[in-house]
Amino acid sequence: MHEQTPKLIIQGGNPLRGEIRISGAKNAALPVLCAALLTGDDIRISNVPRLMDITTMISLLKEIGVSVHDNGPSEFVLCAANLAHLTASYDMVKTMRAAILVLGPLLARAGEAYISLPGGCAIGLRPVDQHIKGLEAMGAEITIEHGYIHAVAKQLHGARIVMDIVTVTGTENLMMAATLAHGTTVIENAAREPEIIDLANCLIAMGARIHGAGSDIITIEGVPVLRGAEHAVMPDRIETGTFLAAACATGGDIRLSETDPHLLDAVLDKLTESGASIETGARWINLEMQHRPKPVTLRTAPYPAFPTDMQAQFMSLNCIADGTAVITETIFENRLMHVQELKRMNADIRVEGNTAIIRGIPGLDGAHVMATDLRASASLVIAGLVAQGETVIDRIYHLDRGYEAIEKKLSLLGASIQRAGTH
Ligand code: UD1
Repeated sequence: MHEQTPKLIIQGGNPLRGEIRISGAKNAALPVLCAALLTGDDIRISNVPRLMDITTMISLLKEIGVSVHDNGPSEFVLCAANLAHLTASYDMVKTMRAAILVLGPLLARAGEAYISLPGGCAIGLRPVDQHIKGLEAMGAEITIEHGYIHAVAKQLHGARIVMDIVTVTGTENLMMAATLAHGTTVIENAAREPEIIDLANCLIAMGARIHGAGSDIITIEGVPVLRGAEHAVMPDRIETGTFLAAACATGGDIRLSETDPHLLDAVLDKLTESGASIETGARWINLEMQHRPKPVTLRTAPYPAFPTDMQAQFMSLNCIADGTAVITETIFENRLMHVQELKRMNADIRVEGNTAIIRGIPGLDGAHVMATDLRASASLVIAGLVAQGETVIDRIYHLDRGYEAIEKKLSLLGASIQRAGTH
């Protein structure tokens, strides 16, 4: 008998209203979990979101030999006293590209790592040449064998590394590797995403010497050993932005707590441009929208510019805007796959290269659509919440990779949304 794949069924038309709590950031928790590989002591990590990519990363760390205690509800204690198996298999890396984040720490601590190449990925080529180039500059010998990166280094040494392009996990991998290298490493043209600051804060609590995280030059003075630490993961700025875009599109009135508005300047500016009223406090954001959105033209770029991880959600918002908007994706070469699905809901979008021209229409029609990647799934959820009638979203395992309890949170806000099929 065929197992039914889980789907989301949404009855559109309800404005989102009420308050929810934002979870810890997936993209901060993943590297922080890998930082546990750098010490034999206990690392206690709290505010870890419960979602599929975290489960996958924990399975990978366990395979490597890390002992993991799930203290619930969002706390894990990891201890990498014994590293038994210095490998990230193809099966792991193909389901979650962020598995590459074990490369730097394993090499620095154990002197060797065997990591599958990520291979083709739906949203673009996504090579890892910058990770490899940086580790080679630090003295690693790297060969590609049977689709695996085999990295060996008795002792990494400090180096000046100029990244050819801004890469988030590339910067994180090199920063982690450099904490245990002999001497000082300088990473130039480093990514400036807030998740890098969060990882640096965890590493500093473990005894690392890092300056400049959050700027484009990060300096790391290597130390002989790192020790145990406690770290609370920062709030998820993309989850925050996704709920704000959903509230804006549905003409809602929501309050998000346990988040940080300073992480979202570019996104909040665009929501204001679309006509939403936004109020913020130290750890909360209120958004109220009383009319049809105005179109917002935007271009994705590395932080602090508008995040590629919010592009698809703003595409849905623009579908129902009062006018025409242009969205340009500059980070990934194939990240407009949601367009085809949104068109099934009657959206008027034309794609030219990496640019989408969206002519807003008064409303979308519910339809059967298919999720193609994580943030594309979020855009379909927003479209479904806005559309007239029923929307069925297939392949929502993409959504489960990166959003904690999304349908529960949306239900709390008054959405009519249900999961069908086995989980
Ligand atoms: C991270 C985020 C992801 C986000 C992306 C861009 C995590 C776990 N994931 O992904 O959600 O969409 O940043 O903000 O934090 N590149 C190379 N060579 C490399 C590395 C990257 O050419 O060695 C290219 C990529 O193909 C892409 C661009 O650089 O075009 C940026 O990618 P990168 O910042 O590395 O994305 P990730 O770190 O994988």
